[in-house]
Amino acid sequence: MEAKRLAAEKAVELIADGMVVGLGTGSTVAYAIQRLGEFVKQGLDVRAIATSTRSEQLARELGIHLVTFADVQQIDLTIDGADEVDPEWNLIKGGGGALLREKIVAAASRRLIIIVDESKVVEKLGKFPLPVEVVPFGYQVTMQRLYDLGFSPQLRTDGGQPCITDNGNFIIDCRIDVIDHPGRIHDSLNKMVGIVENGLFIGYASQVIVGYHDGSVKELKRRVD
Ligand code: 5RP
Repeated sequence: MEAKRLAAEKAVELIADGMVVGLGTGSTVAYAIQRLGEFVKQGLDVRAIATSTRSEQLARELGIHLVTFADVQQIDLTIDGADEVDPEWNLIKGGGGALLREKIVAAASRRLIIIVDESKVVEKLGKFPLPVEVVPFGYQVTMQRLYDLGFSPQLRTDGGQPCITDNGNFIIDCRIDVIDHPGRIHDSLNKMVGIVENGLFIGYASQVIVGYHDGSVKELKRRVD
């Protein structure tokens, strides 16, 4: 989609020679990886760490030099998508099931550039069901706890079978009308046994680039209270 591509290509302009780059996951990031592949062919020298096997495969096909955390511990700049972005740049991520690796990479990055189309910008998070990565063992109990917390939890499936993440876990998508206090929800989720990580990204984004269907690209201003 054009709006996603515009945001992605704008973000790739921030990548400089010699950088270690984090590659997010999803359809928007795929445009960024494609663009980065073009720059690499023209001589740009970067090393990249991918947040999913899908992104890794695409990057490899395009000749992007891939490394792991055994090689580098600090990433200069990561480009990733999001399912929702609020005015404080809190995010819901994990629609593509890669939230755990995405958060590990985000936490190891000096800068996290979020690229979205305009449909992802919301006043309050919560319309998009919050993805939560859980250990398969006892996931039924974890689901009940999520229900008790006020969510409508649903196990993510594909063809009738649970979706398995790159880390061998399940994803539970948690419906709730509105997330009024993302920080509190984040903390209560991550305190729950059986939960590996949740899709709320709070305080990670350094910049949000939004592509619009009219062909424009703008940076989302951050609201500070
Ligand atoms: C994957 C993600 C993606 O960044 C998010 O789902 C957005 O995907 P897309 O760019 O395809 O709309 O968090 O885990």
